[in-house]
Amino acid sequence: MSIVKDGGQDTAPGSRILPATGKLGVMVVGLGAVATTLIAGVEAVRRGIAKPIGSITQMGTIRLGKRTDSCTPLIHDFVPLAKLEDVIFTGWDIFEDNVYEAASNAKVLDKDLLQQIKPFLETIKPLPAVFDQYYVKRLQGTNVKKGKNKRDLAEQVRADIREFKKTVDRVVMIWCGSTEIYLQPQDVHASVAAFEKGLDESDINIAPSMIYAYAALSEGIPFANGAPNLTVDLPVMLELSRKNSAPICGKDFKTGQTLIKTVLSPAFKARMLGVSGWYSTNILGNRDGEVLDDPESFKTKEESKLGVLDFILQPDLYPDLYGNIYHKVRINYYPPRGDNKEGWDNIDIFGWLGYPMQIKVDFLCRDSILAAPIALDLILFMDMAKRTPELKDLGIQEWLSFFFKSPMTVPGLYPEHDLFIQSMKLKNTLRYIKGEQLITHLGLEYYD
Ligand SMILES: NC(=O)c1ccc[n+]([C@@H]2O[C@H](COP(=O)([O-])OP(=O)(O)OC[C@H]3O[C@@H](n4cnc5c(N)ncnc54)[C@H](O)[C@@H]3O)[C@@H](O)[C@H]2O)c1
Repeated sequence: MSIVKDGGQDTAPGSRILPATGKLGVMVVGLGAVATTLIAGVEAVRRGIAKPIGSITQMGTIRLGKRTDSCTPLIHDFVPLAKLEDVIFTGWDIFEDNVYEAASNAKVLDKDLLQQIKPFLETIKPLPAVFDQYYVKRLQGTNVKKGKNKRDLAEQVRADIREFKKTVDRVVMIWCGSTEIYLQPQDVHASVAAFEKGLDESDINIAPSMIYAYAALSEGIPFANGAPNLTVDLPVMLELSRKNSAPICGKDFKTGQTLIKTVLSPAFKARMLGVSGWYSTNILGNRDGEVLDDPESFKTKEESKLGVLDFILQPDLYPDLYGNIYHKVRINYYPPRGDNKEGWDNIDIFGWLGYPMQIKVDFLCRDSILAAPIALDLILFMDMAKRTPELKDLGIQEWLSFFFKSPMTVPGLYPEHDLFIQSMKLKNTLRYIKGEQLITHLGLEYYD
């Protein structure tokens, strides 16, 4: 693989990515606000009712070769992604509502839009979930699997996957379920053998999200984690993922406030401006907000949101600029706002000779409107990764960091949080797997 300056000679060896033939089955864990906005949105796009705004796979382009070559195909024409027409959804939830009812309850999309696709949405009914209120304190539901131990529950999820597999050609699983309580890696997560023993003994350190992930990876199915849960950030999952060529990625969709944070903070660092404080607070009133109102679930989210600044600003390298930042993140459950979150940031920065300045950001965003296209892109890219010789056995798909608040990396490697580095990483990975030249933006050849 040649790395060229800012364009250059063609060295493409040709791609060996398998084509996206047939139907892609998508198994969504948690049919709440994000999932129903995703499913309804895909159907609306398929019917030509709306456009897939915010989706890299549907609207993004990729530059190939030199700037002067004017070659920028759409990403979905460049790499073989499943077509939206070939995507079939199913999923699990602890509530019995079908996707039309769940989408109506979530109140993200207009009634008019939902009405137009109601018959389709009503056909998707949740399978009984693996759930235990110990891990999500604020929820209680009846559509829940029963089993003699966690192994039994995992086997039931595997049976669901096998059943669905009979109706489609390939399957991807994505977690759009609630944020679980804060957990840390334990001995039971250290290997497949230890984890399976833990399943037999219903070890308390095995959360429901891990049971779904274990089932998916055991069946050779890619798994994407949209929540900040530990789920696949564990040696057992990496082992299974590599063994069964089932890619994993996570975690926590990068949507509102963190998206902006990973755009602004690289700008400060690039210009060597200091930061003394960053106060972020949110109000939101959806079910996610209600779940996060529980301190144990909030802790999981907080960890995911807090890590970003340290990794981007590198206080060890720049102690004068970032060695003493006060970083605070709050999430306040405020029902009147529903899914229309408001995120405030007060950023105290300082410039030349230490003179202070302030920036205020008030982002009146729509959580699930930002998350749904990310979920779609992850589904399509994860399916492609499974068909790509250079990616399918890697385990963690770090090139998908772009979509996450807490990108996964191999142990010991620090994650890239800067949105523009992540974007470059994603696009260069696509060029790489297609045997195209990587782009470094050096560009000296234009001045020869
Ligand atoms: N909306 C966003 O912008 C955004 C951004 C980043 C991350 N997330 C994360 O994505 C997840 C989903 O967000 P949401 O707004 O759709 O929340 P939501 O509460 O509307 O939906 C979550 C759904 O998961 C279900 N669920 C919980 N545990 C389950 C289990 N064990 N099995 C099956 N179903 C289960 C719940 O019943 C609920 O219907 C949350 O963890 C959230 O933190 C959301």
